[in-house]
Amino acid sequence: MKQNTFLLATALLLSATATATAQDAETLFDNKCAACHVKTRPSDMSSLVAPPIMGVMRHVKMKYPAKDAAVAFMVDYVLEPSKAKAVCMPQKIQRFGLMPSQKGNVTKAELEAITAWLYDNYPPAGFNGGQGRGMGMRGGM
Ligand code: HEC
Repeated sequence: MKQNTFLLATALLLSATATATAQDAETLFDNKCAACHVKTRPSDMSSLVAPPIMGVMRHVKMKYPAKDAAVAFMVDYVLEPSKAKAVCMPQKIQRFGLMPSQKGNVTKAELEAITAWLYDNYPPAGFNGGQGRGMGMRGGM
């Protein structure tokens, strides 16, 4: 009954993937993204190597308000970053440089989990990303 064991193992694996929890997504983010994108507003902005994730998510949602579009954009961007696709402010790319492609570091499935979790949790309620600078909350970038 070797084949049955194999099938059972496959089924278990598939269901484990399907039920990946928010916790797993956060752990993936911590392992694959947080080295560059910090999760809390740092006291020392000069030590940053990339924009903090709440600012990133604010801009992603301004351009792609719907979850599926935001997730699709991020999955694509992380694997194939380019200036033309970027939704963040041009000064960010000038300061930090273009994000290096994470191809090989993270799979598409992992990215789908990470970015869906990001969409659900960032920016946190009450985050206003540079209040009163008139950046326009509705797509005015
Ligand atoms: C080696 C550092 C580094 C790592 C690791 C990294 N990023 Fe980035 N990321 C950057 C930098 C720098 C930028 C800002 C420049 C840009 O937008 O390309 C950026 C920008 C972004 C943006 C905004 C893109 C835009 O429209 O401008 C998203 C979304 C993003 N990262 C998601 C992720 C996710 C998700 C991960 C983990 C899988 C990740 N990043 C890992 C450095 C990194």
